[in-house]
Parts: sequence; C-alpha cells; structure tokens
Amino acid sequence: MRTALVTGGAQGLGAIIVSSLVQAGYRVAIADINPDVAQHLVKEHGEEKVAVFGLDVSNENSVEQVLDQVEERFGLPWLLVNNAAVMKAQPVLEIDMPTFERIISVNLCGTFLCSQRFARRLVAAKQSGRIVNIGSLAGQNGGSATGAHYAASKGGIHTLTKVFARDLAPLGITVNAIAPGPLDLPSVAATIGADRLPALKAALPTGKLGRPITVARMVVEMAREDADGLTGSTIDINSGLYLR
Ligand SMILES: NC(=O)c1ccc[n+]([C@@H]2O[C@H](COP(=O)([O-])OP(=O)(O)OC[C@H]3O[C@@H](n4cnc5c(N)ncnc54)[C@H](O)[C@@H]3O)[C@@H](O)[C@H]2O)c1
Repeated sequence: MRTALVTGGAQGLGAIIVSSLVQAGYRVAIADINPDVAQHLVKEHGEEKVAVFGLDVSNENSVEQVLDQVEERFGLPWLLVNNAAVMKAQPVLEIDMPTFERIISVNLCGTFLCSQRFARRLVAAKQSGRIVNIGSLAGQNGGSATGAHYAASKGGIHTLTKVFARDLAPLGITVNAIAPGPLDLPSVAATIGADRLPALKAALPTGKLGRPITVARMVVEMAREDADGLTGSTIDINSGLYLR
C-alpha cells in the first residue's frame, strides 16, 4: 500500500483529497498547522489508513521533522500533495510587508521546501514518486478577488512546478499542478465575503462553482504509476473562467 502526504489536509479541499486518496488505496499522512481539525478524518477512515501530524510548511525544521515522523509511521511516501495555503483578499495598496511575506512564505516557500526535502529523500532512497501542487487561477490571470500576495504566490507555484518537473524527470519523479478557479468550499465566502458570492457565481461561464471532488480525482490521476509521461503540466479546473 502506497503512502501519500497531504499538506493542509485537515479541512476544505485538502480533506477531500485525503478521502479520495484513501478510496484509491493509499495510506495518507495529513500534515497541517491545525492538526486537531483533522481528527474527523482519522475517525472516518481509521488509524491504519490516516495519520495526522502538526506541520508549518514554511518552517524548515518542522518540514524535516514531519518527513521523519511520516517515514517512521508509514514509510517514505510515493506522493506529496502541496495543498496548504493561506488565502486572502486585500486591495493591493493596503497590503503591508509582513502580510505579503507571510503569504509568500507559507504558499510559495512552503511548496518549495516540502517538494525539495521530499525529493531529496526519494533520490537518496533511489525511489521514484509524484508531486502535485495546488496552484490557482489567481496565479494565471491575477484572479478576480484574492490579493496580490496570494496571486503572486500561486504564479510562483506554477513556475516551481515546471522547474522541479524539468530537474526531477530523469529521476522518475513527476511534478504537476492543478489551477482551480473558485470552488464550492467554505473558504471562498470566508475569503471574499458571502455578499460577493452571487456576483462571483454569475461571472462563471458554467454558472457553477467548481467541484472539489474534480480536483481530488485529478490528484489521484496525476499520482498513478503509469502517468509517468505527465509532468510539468498545470491542469485548469476553473468553470470556464479563463481559457488559454
Ligand atoms: N477554495 C477555492 O476556491 C480555491 C481555489 C483555487 C485554489 N485553491 C487552493 O486550494 C488549496 C486548499 O484551499 P481550501 O479552500 O481548502 O482552504 P482552507 O483554508 O480551507 O484550507 C487550507 C489548509 O491549509 C492549512 N494551513 C494553512 N497554513 C499552513 C501552514 N503554514 N502549514 C501547514 N498547513 C497550513 C490550514 O490549516 C487548512 O487546513 C489552497 O492551496 C488554495 O490556495 C482553493
């Protein structure tokens, strides 16, 4: 049985990715800054299949420590899903530097750090593997509501996806991204404000928020062993909001 490590898997999209991976036959390590919130997933799937670890993706020691703990519990993962992020809507002229730096640090540096440290371990063990990054439409076209810090961090994640894919391809490690538009999740109203939700929905060509399960199924597909030719790509799941 293969192991997947999902950052930010305690709630929202991450939790749905966790459940889809369990259903696809994985043992899943959830690593989140709020590990207590993930306990419902342990209850739902059982301790044999799901374990929870406290992690701050922006902290080097924390990342190394969790990778050690996951290896000890389940063995070296096959798959890393970089899903943890802070979402924030804020007018560009009002962003202060500590906020800008914090969001870049969690979203972009966190993705870099987790990917690099995971890949180093795969290489040391002479193992192939998979990395899936959760990007965003905001990283492609600036987005419709979220702030410059968030959009820039996600654009950076799409670029990291390509560079890691290029360097790791000869080592049997594929690296792909998914760029969701607004999803049917509580975080959307929490980020942009519930009052702006109807206008956001009305602006979607499909008329509907994206389904988180579509993203989760794409993660499972990208992680397949026989998907070894799929690397460096960013798959759009954005309700037709941005066609490229
Ligand atoms: N919701 C959407 O419409 C949407 C659209 C595009 C992309 N995304 C992306 O999907 C992913 C999940 O978003 P969501 O809507 O489920 O958000 P969410 O806020 O519900 O979940 C984010 C998770 O990340 C965790 N987290 C935050 N900071 C962390 C840190 N420093 N270290 C470890 N864990 C940390 C949180 O505790 C939480 O469990 C994010 O990468 C987000 O940018 C979401």
